[in-house]
Amino acid sequence: MAPRSLIIDTDPGQDDAVAIMLALGRPDAVEVLGLTAVAGNVPLHLTVPNCLRLLELAGRTDVPVFAGAAAPLVVPLVTAEHVHGATGLDGWDFPDPVTPVRPEFAPDWIVEAVMSRPPKTVTLVPLGPLTNIALALAKEPRLAQRLERIVLMGGASIEGGNITPTAEFNIFVDPHAAARVFRSGAEIVVLSLDATHQAQITRPWLDVMRALDSKVGVAFEGLLSFYERFDTEKYGTEGGPLHDPMTVAWILAPELFEGLHLNVEVETTPGLCFGQTVVDRWKVTDRRPNATWITKLDSPKVFDLILDAFRRLA
Ligand code: RIB
Ligand code: CA
Repeated sequence: MAPRSLIIDTDPGQDDAVAIMLALGRPDAVEVLGLTAVAGNVPLHLTVPNCLRLLELAGRTDVPVFAGAAAPLVVPLVTAEHVHGATGLDGWDFPDPVTPVRPEFAPDWIVEAVMSRPPKTVTLVPLGPLTNIALALAKEPRLAQRLERIVLMGGASIEGGNITPTAEFNIFVDPHAAARVFRSGAEIVVLSLDATHQAQITRPWLDVMRALDSKVGVAFEGLLSFYERFDTEKYGTEGGPLHDPMTVAWILAPELFEGLHLNVEVETTPGLCFGQTVVDRWKVTDRRPNATWITKLDSPKVFDLILDAFRRLA
């Protein structure tokens, strides 16, 4: 089977970085058509060079990087330096990138990349706020049906929120964009906190990452050791949840996951529930199911999958 074509929309972010490396480490299964940067964990002027830094670390500067939205559709940008550090990739000292970013605006390039390829051959993998995706869908509504699917990290239902009691960060930053994406008619697979909180980093796993004895392995042990400190303190757990890579892991090995086809709406009214993903788990409304909401994952096997990809990158 030919490798699946992916566009990764991202706000690196240490966990975004793992997702990107997981995809790059499996060229047998996926082809990364490009990275599109969005403002989220840190502002766009940092997420763009962070994309370039990661591709240079992986020796994959053949993958193009495009700059997208610097702000959400409606509300002011909220960032997460308290989690990811001032650079967005604290924990490893990257050299300044030398690769040029491409000139096209990311949403424009997404439309061109998808509409110029055969139907149902490109998968969109959003790992940050959904601003770029909503803009691309607004420019070309046919995108929703042209895409193979959207596999996104975002939202929360059973787990509650991580940026407010009701909202997960990616959705909270741009709930207007998220609402448009969930109403677009595209096939959507959601890796929310309900799933990603089952994927806890462990010290033995990080030690194996470090023992890969490659630049990538050493760098990522540093990045993730920094990244998980915030969540281990917040949740009182041994390790922190590894959110974004669960999207690429689902694409590579969907058999390691379970999900339900449900309706998901996004609250855009200001207030306590602003940015909440409202999941009709028991179908108590007549709202049409519009997403596959992942509810379970096999954490040990997913972490083995990630390490295997990192070994191939070494
Ligand atoms: O809530 C977790 C999400 O917010 C992840 O994508 C992380 O990178 C941050 O963007
Ligand atoms: Ca992210």
